[in-house]
Amino acid sequence: MGYCCCSTMALVFCIWGMFLISVSSASRVGASRQKLEVNKHLNRLNKHAVKTIQSPDGDIIDCVHISNQPAFDHPFLKDHKIQMRPNFHPEGLFDESKLSEKQKEGSNAANSITQLWHANGKCPEDTIPIRRTKEDDVLRASSVKRYGRKKHRSIAKPRSADPDIISQSGHQHAIAYVEGDKYYGAKATINVWEPKIQQLNEFSLSQIWVLGGSFGQDLNSIEAGWQVSPDLYGDNNTRLFTYWTSDAYQATGCYNLLCSGFIQVNNNIAMGASISPISEYQNSQYDISITIWKDPKEGHWWMRFGNELVLGYWPSFLFSYLADSASMIEWGGEVVNSEPNGEHTSTQMGSGQFPEQGFGKASYFRNIQVVDSSNNLKSPKGLGTFTEQSNCYDVETGSNDNWGHYFYYGGPGKNPNCP
Ligand SMILES: *[C@@H]1O[C@H](CO)[C@@H](O)[C@H](O)[C@H]1NC(C)=O
Repeated sequence: MGYCCCSTMALVFCIWGMFLISVSSASRVGASRQKLEVNKHLNRLNKHAVKTIQSPDGDIIDCVHISNQPAFDHPFLKDHKIQMRPNFHPEGLFDESKLSEKQKEGSNAANSITQLWHANGKCPEDTIPIRRTKEDDVLRASSVKRYGRKKHRSIAKPRSADPDIISQSGHQHAIAYVEGDKYYGAKATINVWEPKIQQLNEFSLSQIWVLGGSFGQDLNSIEAGWQVSPDLYGDNNTRLFTYWTSDAYQATGCYNLLCSGFIQVNNNIAMGASISPISEYQNSQYDISITIWKDPKEGHWWMRFGNELVLGYWPSFLFSYLADSASMIEWGGEVVNSEPNGEHTSTQMGSGQFPEQGFGKASYFRNIQVVDSSNNLKSPKGLGTFTEQSNCYDVETGSNDNWGHYFYYGGPGKNPNCP
């Protein structure tokens, strides 16, 4: 009896021991497989650098030969002849280089804004600056595959009658928009702030959306602006970013140069790099101008930063609807609200102030324009506004001679009227 009991005990311990060993070796195998996968991804993303610049914010900027950039990993781009400049620039009102001193008053021109890494060097000609992806950047993503991608459909559908779409994704917007025509681009000058983010997995951004198609599974979108995203970048800095998708944020597209698609031609501006300086409450205001337009000749979608810096283009073949034209343009802010228990996040949008606060306090978009089929910049006709919860984040439009069509937007998120 005693023997039997002993042996049962031994067996139990033995099995338990084997279980422990197999659990720990399984997790070791899992960890090393993940490390392998992360390293493979880093090798794919980080191209051979001709020169490397250490940015004061901890970023590493790699100057990569222009023909060696991530875009050319795309099978359709293997034989693509890179275009160094667009055939046409959109023309029209509010060309900043033609503004009088009086008109410039109260707001700094975009060219006074730089990127932090410029303090420590420049990229040579025939290279483009790329923010190096570090192991930690990838490890913060839910999976290697999701790194550099938006997690949810990230688009405001004005007049949406479906509250589920809003509460499911937790994305909140305060935007101005136009629809009902064919658009060939958009422009805006965007006030730059550093909104506070409550949770690591939340973000706050201010951008232009160039949209094609219905709001179904095949939505096409080109996006550019500034964002604060601790998840994507590992800090709270305000960064210049772009995004694109041709299937409503599912399998195609990414931020910046984190997948092949966007072809960069500029050696001065790095996608995803920190912008400096930032506007301060009742103090200096800074803004950036962004233009996105479709080259009437080749059909590619180009992006310009300020009035001279042509960053590059999204080749037309990446898209379905946008291969022809855009059907909607949106301008404004978006935050993610990921608080549990139905409480609202205190993540700020814009400056964190409501629109009625006005200049120097609330964030703005000014000189918002669309590009028409003749490649002319025009004032937006029938500008609408949309916000899911105006007690949390709001938007207010206006127009005058200097700022053309403009709006103030944003808010603090959680407050007594937005519990
Ligand atoms: C970013 O801001 C949050 C609070 O808003 C803070 O908890 C966190 O430490 C900050 N992260 C960094 C890297 O500064």
